[in-house]
Formats: sequence, C-alpha cells, structure tokens
Amino acid sequence: MTEFEVTGREALIAAARAAAVLAYAPYSMFSVGAALLFADGGIVTGANVENASYGLSLCAEAVAVAVAMAAGRRGGLVGIAVVGGAVVGGGVGGGAAPVTPCGRCRQVLSELAGLGSSDPVVWCVGAGDRGSEVLELRLSALLPHSFGPGHLSPS
Ligand code: THU
Repeated sequence: MTEFEVTGREALIAAARAAAVLAYAPYSMFSVGAALLFADGGIVTGANVENASYGLSLCAEAVAVAVAMAAGRRGGLVGIAVVGGAVVGGGVGGGAAPVTPCGRCRQVLSELAGLGSSDPVVWCVGAGDRGSEVLELRLSALLPHSFGPGHLSPS
C-alpha cells in the first residue's frame, strides 16, 4: 500500500466519522457519515437526514453525492468512506461491524463515479471504536453489472 493510500484512507475515514456526528437520526437512532474523495484532493461529506415520514429519509452517501454535484462536481470520485453506528448519548457508538452502503446508495454513487469513469475504493467502517475493522472494496464489487446511462442509449 502506498503512503498516499494510507494517508487518504485515514483522512477520509476521519471525515466520515466527523460527518456521522452531525446526522439527524432521531427515528432509527443510527448515525451514518459518508466522505467522498476526489482526484483533486477535495473531500465532500454527508450524513443521514431522517424524516417523520420515515420513507423520506436520506442516506449519508446520497446526501454527500448531492452536495458534491450541486457544487459542480462531475466524476473524479476516487475514494468513499462510510462510517455508521448507533446513536449513543451525543455521539456515535454501538457495534464495530463495517457499515456498507445500501443498494440505492450504491447506484447513486455509481452515477457520479461513472461520469469520470472511475471505480472508487470504498472503505466501510463501524463506529464502535477507532480500532474497528475496515472493509475495503471497489464500488464495482459492491454493484456489479450496474445500470448506467449507457443503457438508455439505443445500441
Ligand atoms: N443509512 C445510510 O445513511 N446509509 C446507508 O448506506 C445505510 C443506511 C441510514 C438510513 C437511516 O437513516 C439509517 O441509516 C438506518 O437505516
């Protein structure tokens, strides 16, 4: 593993962990933070935002993608960190099992990655403690045979 990868990984996980603290999750009591790393070194974060109409809740990854795209980003996505855990007091705690992006978020992340033809590394982390396992996968492994804009064009 190169020094860049180690540095990028820890910084991105730290950014996702900080974002999770700002989650609005009074219904599930499960906070998630997501951090997106771009090729220019920029990091964009998001947290889950729930709603009294439960089904309208927004996942952390989708919020991060929306923030990035609303800021003009199109592609260049090289890394993703997701940190999640139960709300404990004013912070995030609970189990140490790595939190993987839900199916909808995999598709949303894939749209942004596809705009730059990248296959970002995804670091999935539990919020139980700072020593929790980190699951490392490529987005293509989380969403094989993905649907994309190419399917909308007549062949
Ligand atoms: N959640 C995310 O933010 N990202 C995921 O990939 C999985 C689930 C949120 C949605 C909901 O607010 C809470 O976690 C419990 O499902």
